[in-house]
Amino acid sequence: MRTTKLVSIVGARPQFIKLAALAKKMSCCPFSRQLSHIIIHTGQHYDYEMSKIFFQELNLPKPDYHLGIGSHSPSKQIGKMMEAIEHVLEKEKPDIVMVYGDTNTTLAGAISAVHSGIPVVHIEAGLRSFKMDMPEEINRIITDRISTLLFCPTKDAVRNLKKEGKIKNVYFVGDVMYDVFLKSQNYLWNRHILDDLGLTPKNYLLLTIHRRENLLKINNVINILENLNRLKEKTIFPIHPGTKKTLEQNGCDIAKFTNIVMIKPIGYLDMLYLEKNARKIITDSGGVQKEAFWNRIPCVVLRSETEWKELLKYGYLNLVGNDSKKLLDAINKPVRRKKFRSIFGNGNASGRILHIINHWAKINRATSL
Ligand code: UD1
Ligand code: UDP
Repeated sequence: MRTTKLVSIVGARPQFIKLAALAKKMSCCPFSRQLSHIIIHTGQHYDYEMSKIFFQELNLPKPDYHLGIGSHSPSKQIGKMMEAIEHVLEKEKPDIVMVYGDTNTTLAGAISAVHSGIPVVHIEAGLRSFKMDMPEEINRIITDRISTLLFCPTKDAVRNLKKEGKIKNVYFVGDVMYDVFLKSQNYLWNRHILDDLGLTPKNYLLLTIHRRENLLKINNVINILENLNRLKEKTIFPIHPGTKKTLEQNGCDIAKFTNIVMIKPIGYLDMLYLEKNARKIITDSGGVQKEAFWNRIPCVVLRSETEWKELLKYGYLNLVGNDSKKLLDAINKPVRRKKFRSIFGNGNASGRILHIINHWAKINRATSL
């Protein structure tokens, strides 16, 4: 029997986590011998802590192709990625290209595949912030428009696509990050990052910031750091390299925030462990908002909107934008949480995705004979 050749295109931190769900499932699903899988890493993220550590911790296969694109202006980065991806697709001639999330890597992968006549599968389809000045919003809308199979993490995402007239081949499967989150719980028992940082559970805040909209207004970020620095509680801040560079370029001496523990980005398991034990999480990350919910930890969001609106209903998220008063209120006030409900599937999104892809590939082959 002919195998279905899948190519996954990844390049940024959260995509390695999403890929882990699919790659693992591909090697152990009942029809694994009917699938072959090739991984292309664009090199959008390249520091050890932003890339290789995830391949090691999550036991991911080494990428078959590493394009080494690195950091550039958005158009240059996307253009360079597309050119390099096109070469690989011409050589490999896959049946399907899988792209993940909403980064520049996602967009470059989807456009290159369509130009090469290869159907695109979008994992994490249908999310919307309804802010067209957000690079990720443009990336997701275009990727959704040109994808053949669209896999949604929530029912809201399905509804968003429906409103845009996209109904065919749209599936609610759950969130592949939830698959990885659940499996990883078994590997947290021997983490020692709390001891290493001199922390005890529920006595610290955890902070991440990297969104462009925040970095463009760097004084707001500095203001947030000043406010957090004045609190009695310590704030742990695994700092994204882009944020660190922007702060430094703007003359901000980050060493002056003595109550904020700035550390390099950490591996996924340490991050989950820090999340689980934080009193509150403060973030502008999409993935971290969900993980806060899955850990039942209140989350203060440094944005004025979220793609994960359902979480607002459950009382775990608090959108504060860049308003200092709202930030401090959200950190101090107790949260009224509603009962936890899993709205992200049952931890087997990757299994459902592969099942649908396998079925689709068989029918497609039969009809194109
Ligand atoms: C990208 C995604 C964002 C995602 C984030 C995950 C886009 C448009 N944005 O944002 O949706 O949430 O990844 O983390 O694709 N840098 C390094 N080393 C690295 C990687 C980046 O120093 O390994 C620095 C560079 O100065 C670079 C900056 O960080 O210019 C931003 O990196 P980039 O990949 O362009 O965007 P992210 O902010 O990481
Ligand atoms: N993450 C991590 N180490 C860190 C910061 C984040 O492992 O130092 C993980 C986090 O747990 C989540 C994912 O990276 O699984 C989120 O990625 P990021 O915030 O970079 O991107 P976004 O989700 O906003 O696209």
